[in-house]
Amino acid sequence: MKEKLDGIKLAALALIENAVSTAELNDVRVKYLGKSGEISLVMRDMANVPKEERPAMGKLVNELRSVVENALNEKNAILAIKEEEQKFKEEEIDVTLSATGKRLGNLHPLTLIRRELIDIFLSMGFSVDEGPEIESDLYNFQLLNIPKDHPSRDMQDTFYINDNILLRTQTSAMQARIMTNQQPPIRVVVPGKVYRSDDDASHSPIFNQFEGLAIDRHITMGDLQGCLQTFAQKIFSSDTKVRLRPSYFPFTEPSVEVDVTCAMCHGKGCRVCKGTGWVEILGAGIVNPAVLEMCGIDSNEYSGFAFGFGIDRIAMIKYGIPNIKMLYENDVRFLKQFN
Ligand code: DAH
Repeated sequence: MKEKLDGIKLAALALIENAVSTAELNDVRVKYLGKSGEISLVMRDMANVPKEERPAMGKLVNELRSVVENALNEKNAILAIKEEEQKFKEEEIDVTLSATGKRLGNLHPLTLIRRELIDIFLSMGFSVDEGPEIESDLYNFQLLNIPKDHPSRDMQDTFYINDNILLRTQTSAMQARIMTNQQPPIRVVVPGKVYRSDDDASHSPIFNQFEGLAIDRHITMGDLQGCLQTFAQKIFSSDTKVRLRPSYFPFTEPSVEVDVTCAMCHGKGCRVCKGTGWVEILGAGIVNPAVLEMCGIDSNEYSGFAFGFGIDRIAMIKYGIPNIKMLYENDVRFLKQFN
């Protein structure tokens, strides 16, 4: 019996000595001290030991038990510390590494231009209004002196919803809305989205316009020219020149088309102005007395000027953007250049 106990002791201590993990050590604990472990079995075997030898044997088994237990506990303490150190090492974070940067967003070029335009016209005493993008034929066309069969409707490829409802083709629709609701003096600008069935490098089916309307006593073409000159010099540069060419719009009489010296080359000639030094930026004119009358304003007492242009076009000229689609694709590589 005694030899058996010594054998168990030697084997157990060797296993404990050689264990490399707390998990392995736990297996050793089960092997010797578990319910059917070797030492527990010896305890149970005590019944077969002659009565007189039992106390001495019991003592030996108890000693063996505590020797193995102590060895297990000591080794376990050592291995637990080692394993903890190992775990810390594996989970180590280098707090000195630089963080992945956060990119700051910026305003869309159309928003930048729209805000700049609004500021310019506020400084000249205009107020700002907005109107519906789904509009009636009445405001978009008829009250602007464009009756149902008028040929000038062909200039604007319209998205009709039904015979009388459409997606507005021009912010000029707001001229009619404002004049039918307000008596002069009127000084208002209207930024907004408009829609036309049109699609190439300089036309998008959705684009942004900016309308201006001033009605008062004694308003002349000179007021229009001065207003547009101030606007062009503020949005482009102070050396910008403006020229008016005769044109035709049903709602203005006389009508003009307005060119400015190219913002890219300052009039020398370049890709943006196709070598001419000038770029066309807007349509304008003296509000047709017929329109004033249709909208309920006395044309003998009042006169006014109106103008309208594409915000997109201003952005393209100012920033040298070659294709209008770039303004609507939301490609971050394009947009972040306006930071
Ligand atoms: N609504 C015109 C267009 O979309 C632009 C325009 C021309 C607006 C003359 C005006 C104006 O107010 O007087 O082509």
